Amino acid sequence: MRIWLTLGFATMCVPVQAAMPAAQQNALVKQYCAVCHTDAAMNGGLSLQHYDAAKRDPALAAMILTKLNTGAMGAAGNGVPDKAAQEAWLASTKEQAAGAAEWFVSREDGLVSASIVREVPPRRPDVKESPVYRVKIACNTGSGIGQMQLTWSPQPQTGRTLTAAADGNAPVEYRIEGRESMGNGATVQTGHASVLLSDGGKLGFPNQSLTVRELFDGESVQFPFSALDKKTGTELRRCFR
Ligand code: HEC
Repeated sequence: MRIWLTLGFATMCVPVQAAMPAAQQNALVKQYCAVCHTDAAMNGGLSLQHYDAAKRDPALAAMILTKLNTGAMGAAGNGVPDKAAQEAWLASTKEQAAGAAEWFVSREDGLVSASIVREVPPRRPDVKESPVYRVKIACNTGSGIGQMQLTWSPQPQTGRTLTAAADGNAPVEYRIEGRESMGNGATVQTGHASVLLSDGGKLGFPNQSLTVRELFDGESVQFPFSALDKKTGTELRRCFR
């Protein structure tokens, strides 16, 4: 009886695809990604220096997935993992990204954070992957200091003004300018993939929705703040008064 239960449970929980153990994913991220995504360089507004695949973060996994799908594995100039490892890494990241379109809240060491992603239709007919945007809000409940970050992937941007509006109020403008140097010292430069919406303090904390427009031509994306649970909303709001 006991054996049956154990076996049944195991087959239910273990996906058919060979999911990659977290430690192996961490090693790949270290080798192929964290060379640029360091705490110091923060390419794309993102550090993967302390990345741990065992820690649930669907929105981050969704962002990583878009990059794995679009050639970032080779960006470090360290070659790429073998085919089997690439596939297992992709499959595991895809699993971790499940639920990324809903708020994911974490509470750790006095830091409350919530993140969510939204997809938009492909920008070019020959590209099938949908671009994604992520909004991440973090609030240090002790100091009352918070941050609201917007990131996007896989296409960087520069020389552009986007707007963000809370609850249909007057849109606030954010200028995306200049280029990023690669954290690993490579001489290529790119546009940006991140902006701090909390900078300037003009954007209030949305009760209902956050609408971001014109990061790319004619594009708009809406984040459902009304779906954020009440407790988290109250906690985060303290950092944005
Ligand atoms: C050579 C340096 C370099 C390497 C290596 C690199 N990146 Fe990036 N990454 C960047 C830069 C610069 C940006 C911002 C511009 C852009 O999006 O291209 C970025 C942007 C991103 C973004 C979008 C912004 C965000 O915060 O969501 C994600 C996700 C990302 N990278 C993940 C990865 C992953 C995963 C790997 C490894 C497979 C990787 N990167 C390897 C330099 C690098």
